[in-house]
Amino acid sequence: MVTEGAALATWEGRPVEEWREAWGAPRLVVLDAVGSTNDVARALAEAGAPTGTAVVAERQTAGRGRGGRRWHAPHGAAILLSVVLRPPPGGSAMTAPGAIPLRIGLAVARAAERVTGAGLGLKWPNDVVAPGRGKVAGILCEAVLGAGGGFVVAGIGVNVSQRLEDFPDEVRGTATSLSTVAGRQISRPDVCGAILDALRDAAMRYAEPLDARELEAIADRDVLRGRELSVDGVPRGVAVGIAPEGALRLRGPDGSVSLVHSGTVRVLGSYHSGPREHYP
Ligand code: BTN
Repeated sequence: MVTEGAALATWEGRPVEEWREAWGAPRLVVLDAVGSTNDVARALAEAGAPTGTAVVAERQTAGRGRGGRRWHAPHGAAILLSVVLRPPPGGSAMTAPGAIPLRIGLAVARAAERVTGAGLGLKWPNDVVAPGRGKVAGILCEAVLGAGGGFVVAGIGVNVSQRLEDFPDEVRGTATSLSTVAGRQISRPDVCGAILDALRDAAMRYAEPLDARELEAIADRDVLRGRELSVDGVPRGVAVGIAPEGALRLRGPDGSVSLVHSGTVRVLGSYHSGPREHYP
């Protein structure tokens, strides 16, 4: 398996097996150090691990984010979690694969809100942000196609106890942590358990289009709505919401609405006025 250290028997003061039971996970692997938890989860899934299998690490040596970026977190300060999701039995095929990251982003936001009491936002496609303060979580979904519908590895990085000065230069000013936002120490096991709980519902709907309730919950948290955006550096228009398949809806200067399925989105204009205010 693609691990660099042995699986831990205890984590945060309790046997890993007790966390597994408390969280209702069919399988839980906790590692001290690993390249990327997504690679370990993928290897487990390829060997037949069931949906809901979770891999947690204290540290990653090659943690990755979207768009080929690196994902850094100091040892023990973040949740570095990957979860295997398989199509539900008898469920629909991959009718809306683009809905999966949005659904998972919503699940992570709801879980973190439950534990911290803070109101959090979503930045398409799946950053979880504390509005006006910075990004608290990022999600990297990796799909593997194959017999039986394949599977998705949902890689979730949550900043839990970092201080603002702990973040690397490239994200300092745009990242924050749940403890900073809440103004008190937040427990990693509490957040991890809440995420796995919220993911169970998300997994049931897997790659179905987002339904009206999900779209409303996303709209309530959508920090891009009404903002003028560029996509991959090109000014494209004003965000007007999310489509059921998970695409970002943009209204262009001619009034027509187009769908963006992938790309790096930036907010244009006066929103970029100052440090730490430029992040929605
Ligand atoms: C992003 O915002 O660009 C996505 C970041 C995803 C980071 C998590 S940490 C756990 C999992 N393992 C990885 O290598 N990446 C994801």
